[in-house]
Amino acid sequence: MLDSKVVELLNDQINKEMYSAYLYLDFSNYFSQVGLDGFANWYMIQAQEERDHAMLFYQYLQNNSEKVTLKAIAQPDVALTDTMTVLKAGLKHEMYVTDLINTIYSAAYDVKDFRTMQFLDWFIKEQGEEETNANDMITKMELFGSDAKGLYMLNSELGARVYAAPSLVL
Ligand code: FEO
Repeated sequence: MLDSKVVELLNDQINKEMYSAYLYLDFSNYFSQVGLDGFANWYMIQAQEERDHAMLFYQYLQNNSEKVTLKAIAQPDVALTDTMTVLKAGLKHEMYVTDLINTIYSAAYDVKDFRTMQFLDWFIKEQGEEETNANDMITKMELFGSDAKGLYMLNSELGARVYAAPSLVL
């Protein structure tokens, strides 16, 4: 049995990760529409990773005999006006998710739930990587995005991203 507050937060995180997938699917759709297929590929893979994250929370609750309650996924509400706006919204969203993970970790810490803390360690590290990736995209866009050749190269680089399953296995 896990602490009820910890369970509630873990359950909510399934929804937040599914929303993240939805948000990045929206980003991918935007980039497809404006012809930046590499950016679209990058966010399509990001959406897959977010679904993986949701499933890890789902599986962790099930492995601990806790009930999963699936809630409605909100409509993405970021105004997709231009590339930099989208990239900055991605970074802002990842910082928000980091806060969510930290909140769950803190709740687990309060009740000495070492099992959940150990489970969350992977996500703590992952969020560091997610924020770095989002920051790097913004930096590269600032450096190269205003030039057509630079944007073409950046789009090609992002188009080379391939999906990899999460390293955390439950
Ligand atoms: Fe699942 Fe991008 O955090």
